[in-house]
This record gives sequence, C-alpha cells and structure tokens, in this order.
Amino acid sequence: MSSTPEQSLLSVVPVVPVVVIDELAHAVPVARALVAGGLPVIELTLRTPVALDAIRAIADEVPEILIGAGTIVTPAQAAAAQDAGAQFLVSPGATASLLAAMTATGLPFLPGTATVSEVLAALEKGISELKFFPAEASGGAAFLKSIASPVPAARFCPTGGITAATAPAYLALPNVGCVGGSWLTPADALATEDWPRIESLARDAATLG
Ligand code: 3PG
Repeated sequence: MSSTPEQSLLSVVPVVPVVVIDELAHAVPVARALVAGGLPVIELTLRTPVALDAIRAIADEVPEILIGAGTIVTPAQAAAAQDAGAQFLVSPGATASLLAAMTATGLPFLPGTATVSEVLAALEKGISELKFFPAEASGGAAFLKSIASPVPAARFCPTGGITAATAPAYLALPNVGCVGGSWLTPADALATEDWPRIESLARDAATLG
C-alpha cells in the first residue's frame, strides 16, 4: 500500500506501529513483518543512533511500506528525516519552529498536542490532523470524546500507553482516524529477532477499527 501527501495519514491503517530500532540489521525484517501482517506503515522513532540509517534502509529495501520518522523534537531532525527517505513526520509536541520545519519539508506530518489550546493553535495554522500525546497520561479516550463536539475540526492519532485492549475505545471515536503504539514491536521480540511474533501482532492490530 502506498500513500500520497494528499491522502490523510489517519486513514491508511487503524494502528500505526511506533518502532524503536537499536540494531540496524533489524530494520528491514521488522518492516517486512509488519507488511506481511497487513500493516504497511511504520513510524520509526529518532531515539537511537541508528534511526536515520534504519529509515534509509527501509526506504531502499521495503518500498511497499509507508515509512515515517517519529520523535521529531528539533527542527533539524525534520530535514534529516526527509533526507533519509521518510515519507511522513511525527513529533511529540508542536513548537512554532518545529511546525515551520516540518511544513518546510512538504511531507505530511502529525504534530503532537495534549491540550485544547495546543489543538486550537494548530488549527489556527491550518493543521487539523494531529497526534494526541501522551494519550493515556493526558486523559485518554475520554479527553478526545470530550473535545469532539467543541472542536470538531481536529482529527487525531492518539499514541502513548495505548494497547490492543484499549485501542478500540479510541478507534470508535468520530475524531480519531488511527492510533499509534509500540505494542506491535515489543523489545523482547526485537531482541530475539522473533519476526513471526511481530507479524502476528500486526495481523491482530490490522483487524482493529
Ligand atoms: C510515541 O512516540 O508515539 C509513543 O512513545 C508510543 O507510545 P507507546 O510506546 O506507549 O505505545
């Protein structure tokens, strides 16, 4: 599956796998396992020294996956992620300089928000598709349900503390397009290179929503 900048990032899959890669050699097998499980999207977080190289490897070797860069916390990382081959960007927050840097790439992106004022500030800039982070710690599905009526223009990908058990409550909300989570790629499955387990977790998640 592929996505174009015109297509909503929130409508590609019900669950966006949020992935931390410690070993570069794991990047391509993880991406292939997610595709095999029916989730052809990956948000690779810029939290490890190999993250940009991992994005590059996936972009080169697994063209059927939509590869994004997550944990964009500095303006420079937006351009670096694009240079590595990222097709979308995700940030945990939304400072003015981060928004400017992500906008400048021309890539689709999901800036993080956790309060009504942050959501309104993003809407004022014409950005209506947002990450809600950290979702569980910031009020969870109840928060998003509460703002659906007063702030109907905003749509969300909540992430942070969401599990296979809690994802359906989010996905049932009118202002949620997808959720993000790291439960599809547990650290122990990566450590033991258990790609069938990741494929199986992806297959289960692909049926949600
Ligand atoms: C993110 O960057 O979106 C979150 O760290 C993912 O949160 P989780 O690890 O609790 O799923």
